[in-house]
Amino acid sequence: MIKAFRIVVFLSGRGSNLRALYEYIVGENLPIEIARVICDKQAAPGLKYAEERGIPSTYVPRKPKEESPEQFHQRLIQAAAAENPDLVVLAGFMRILSAEFIEAFRGKIVNIHPSLLPAFRGLHAQRQALDAGVRIAGCTVHFVTEELDGGPIVAQAGVPVLPADTEETLSDRILTQEHRIYPLAIRAIAEGKVSLGSDGSLRFKNLTIDEKDFLCSL
Ligand code: GRF
Repeated sequence: MIKAFRIVVFLSGRGSNLRALYEYIVGENLPIEIARVICDKQAAPGLKYAEERGIPSTYVPRKPKEESPEQFHQRLIQAAAAENPDLVVLAGFMRILSAEFIEAFRGKIVNIHPSLLPAFRGLHAQRQALDAGVRIAGCTVHFVTEELDGGPIVAQAGVPVLPADTEETLSDRILTQEHRIYPLAIRAIAEGKVSLGSDGSLRFKNLTIDEKDFLCSL
């Protein structure tokens, strides 16, 4: 039996990227296991989704009165490390990870961001794109480093910005692409075709033509 590639997913909200990933893994019958979902918001729909699907989940609340930010981040590290993950997947986790967290899982953390990085880092990326008047927006899968939304880029997909777009319509169009490229990128990493070298640069290996296609799609 092939040993499953173990993933821990961090989220804070809706969980549509978790759903897309889960459905892709099941649909393609991949040897990838979502070992645990870790969430800092008790009412997050993504946490409920995990429970409904029988995916192990842990609610890790921030307790500002009882602990320091460092202690909270230590608990996040422990919750993830207990699963011995091959990859930590950030899917709408609304907290900036501590340097200790990034060190603990160096080269093994990915994020999806709703812009064509390095443009529009941080919050409300779709709003930033509209305000800037760009004609092409999109999403980016990247490895996570200490630099916020700044790690090496694995895959990007572009979408048009239409004259009548609102933040909502543009976000929906981008989200459709997130749901497509994030599972593909995670699969490529699980299969050892994309990795982060110890010098911090990306390595690509044995990618098929189709796989090269998803890395940059318009
Ligand atoms: C997505 O837009 C993702 O790009 C950003 O947070 C949002 C999460 O959405 N990092 P969901 O919880 O996966 O539906």
